[in-house]
Amino acid sequence: MRLEDKVALITGAGAGIGRASALAMAREGATVAVVDIDGDKVDSCVTEIQQAGGTALGIIADVSNLEEIDSMVSSVVEKYGQLDVMFNNAGVTRRCKFMDIDEELWDWVHDVNAKGVFFCIKRAAETMIKQGHGSIINTASIAGRGFPGTSNAAYAASKGAVIALTMQAARSLGRHNINVNSICPGVTRTELMQGILNKRHEKEGIPMDELEAQAARGITIGRINEASDIAEMAVFLASPAARNITGQSINVDGGLVMI
Ligand SMILES: NC(=O)c1ccc[n+]([C@@H]2O[C@H](COP(=O)([O-])OP(=O)(O)OC[C@H]3O[C@@H](n4cnc5c(N)ncnc54)[C@H](O)[C@@H]3O)[C@@H](O)[C@H]2O)c1
Repeated sequence: MRLEDKVALITGAGAGIGRASALAMAREGATVAVVDIDGDKVDSCVTEIQQAGGTALGIIADVSNLEEIDSMVSSVVEKYGQLDVMFNNAGVTRRCKFMDIDEELWDWVHDVNAKGVFFCIKRAAETMIKQGHGSIINTASIAGRGFPGTSNAAYAASKGAVIALTMQAARSLGRHNINVNSICPGVTRTELMQGILNKRHEKEGIPMDELEAQAARGITIGRINEASDIAEMAVFLASPAARNITGQSINVDGGLVMI
């Protein structure tokens, strides 16, 4: 069990990549705090972990709200006395053309994807500095590295911010034995991706199988990610095997982007 005796908090754990990671970390022995803005999704993920014999605590929180970030971390530390792994995974987007991006879209995306990640790192680090160790993982995206198929430019900018924050956080927290890394998923089969494909299907009338084929185009290995492909990387980065990896943003994308 690679994560035995560890307490992990995962945001956006009610669906997709976060949910797959919560299940994978629990399988590896971690106690998992399942955080999501959607209470039904929290409950269903916690139930699945418990039915598989794991330990989980459900928390409803919005990571764009600083008070909710504080109380979600506080409740984990109060209950378990430690926080070893913080996986800042929650993220939002929708498809939008460059010239149609307005302030509302920009703020929504950046409040969750960039501001939320920074303040989750900062709040988790307060606890990790005191205990003298920790692993922080962020979900960025190949969109932050210039992937032309990004859902929109505001989203790409928010993920570029996550990649930059990962380097700065790693530099600031390394002396406290805290490593900070990001995962840059490529095209990954989740509700988020399905929502984007559905909208294009409705608006542009492109058949779903053609949209799927378009999404897979350019992937060197020829396969769209499953959420579990990202979860495997998250488990590795959370484990002692990754203790000397920090400040890195690692693509898991079947070779779609190679920088
Ligand atoms: N799916 C992809 O192709 C893809 C590619 C690159 C990066 N990503 C990134 O991976 C991460 C997870 O995406 P996914 O595809 O699993 O998405 P998803 O929509 O399937 O799941 C995201 C979860 O986050 C929750 N959430 C949304 N806003 C929240 C908030 N403010 N506070 C707390 N929880 C919130 C949602 O309720 C949902 O359960 C995101 O950061 C996303 O940007 C996804």
